[in-house]
Amino acid sequence: MRNKKIAVIILAAGKGTRMKSNIPKVLHPVLGKPMIYYAVEAALSLKPFEIIPVLSWKKEQVEGYLVNAFGPLFNIAYQKIPMGTADAVKSAMNQISDDIDTVIVMSGDVPLITVEILANLVASHKTDLTLTTINLENPKGYGRIIRKNGKIEKIVEEKDATEEEKSVCEVNAGLYCFSKQFLKSYLPLIKPNEITKEYYLTDLVALAVNEGIEITAFTSPNPEVFLGINTRVELSSITELLQRRVCEEFMLSGVTIVDPKRVYIETEVKIGKDTIVQPDVCLYGHTEIGEHCILEAGTVIKDSILKNDVHIKPYTVIENSRIANGAIIGPFAHLRPETVIEEKAKIGNFVETKKATLKRGSKANHLTYLGDVLVEEGVNVGAGTITCNYDGKNKYFTHIKRGAFIGSNTALVAPVVVGENAVIGAGSVITKDVPDDTLAVERSEQKHISNWSKIKNRIKK
Ligand code: UD1
Ligand code: MG
Repeated sequence: MRNKKIAVIILAAGKGTRMKSNIPKVLHPVLGKPMIYYAVEAALSLKPFEIIPVLSWKKEQVEGYLVNAFGPLFNIAYQKIPMGTADAVKSAMNQISDDIDTVIVMSGDVPLITVEILANLVASHKTDLTLTTINLENPKGYGRIIRKNGKIEKIVEEKDATEEEKSVCEVNAGLYCFSKQFLKSYLPLIKPNEITKEYYLTDLVALAVNEGIEITAFTSPNPEVFLGINTRVELSSITELLQRRVCEEFMLSGVTIVDPKRVYIETEVKIGKDTIVQPDVCLYGHTEIGEHCILEAGTVIKDSILKNDVHIKPYTVIENSRIANGAIIGPFAHLRPETVIEEKAKIGNFVETKKATLKRGSKANHLTYLGDVLVEEGVNVGAGTITCNYDGKNKYFTHIKRGAFIGSNTALVAPVVVGENAVIGAGSVITKDVPDDTLAVERSEQKHISNWSKIKNRIKK
């Protein structure tokens, strides 16, 4: 059930100039998801009545992503010209429903934010204004929390701070909880900053203090969670932190990750226990790996499902495929979309598959292309076999029935059927269906010229 009283405003109108990009900052991906995804996911955990992203530059692009990813969940606010964080919240206030009494304000560029932090903020919200502070060794760039006798007096932004104020290490984390009434009354009183001409949301603190309105500071022991992304350098360092968090969760749930600094695993990937992930493995999208699997160095898997006890040997690329228990793939194999490898089947070195099903226990161990093909149980596909599935216009299907043996360097010109337990002689170009239990050989007969070495010598003289 949605909480009728809570609205979450996500500030995302900043152009992100320092990203030096044609894409709005909040759409830059962090482990495969635009960074605003993480803010929305965290906000959703509060089951708010409404979520109001504040957008500006390339608004349609950001809105398009949000609606596509989450559905028509949002009440978008628009700042024609972003004039500061207070101006952003003001633009969102016009969208807020009457029933709301609590407004959370967060940033769209802090992908490490957690559900717990938001829950704590709401739980500790007892006054008109609750803000989150953190202590940083290097507070540069943040608004400093200025206290007098322990009580918060104001927030001073870096640009306006005196040297003494700059030395304060307690800073504003940029996550707030307000009563709607307070915002309605006090936002209009904020004056533009003299230097930047921007309207600072942080000025609400001094306004409240001057009016004798009580405020609460919720100090988070975990500053990392609030780190924001402004440059590509921060994009990479925050991606690294999130990757570490993802890897730690896997390791604590029983997955061995040999070197967590040398893997790329996106947030929606699932991995079963006792699976071993070696260095330089990349797992993308909706990938699910079962238990007791081995992913050797350089394995790249996208949107695929691997069951248990699967062994992927080095430098194998798998896309949109399914692999059953006990299969062995690689090294240097490429499984393209719609490949289905059934139990204990084997795909070896330099084998490429596409729309290929290999049934239980079948093997294609070397240098082969299997496209648009059904390979039934117990088939051996010899080295260098090619399914010729394309005539330049259309694709055609190959069916290899159970127990067949395809000799090395066979070309199977589709459409073609190889019967049960049929054998194809090496080097054959098969253009006609091969009946069950039949040997098919298609090659010119071998010629012998006797005494060739003598003849050769005579020719030389
Ligand atoms: C802000 C706080 C600072 C705090 C820091 C924490 C102010 C004045 N300062 O500074 O105290 O320590 O966050 O990260 O609030 N935005 C809009 N519309 C605007 C301006 C900004 O939507 O007109 C959005 C930005 O896209 C961003 C967020 O608001 O997501 C924060 O703005 P930013 O300019 O990054 O503020 P900081 O200088 O980081
Ligand atoms: Mg910022």
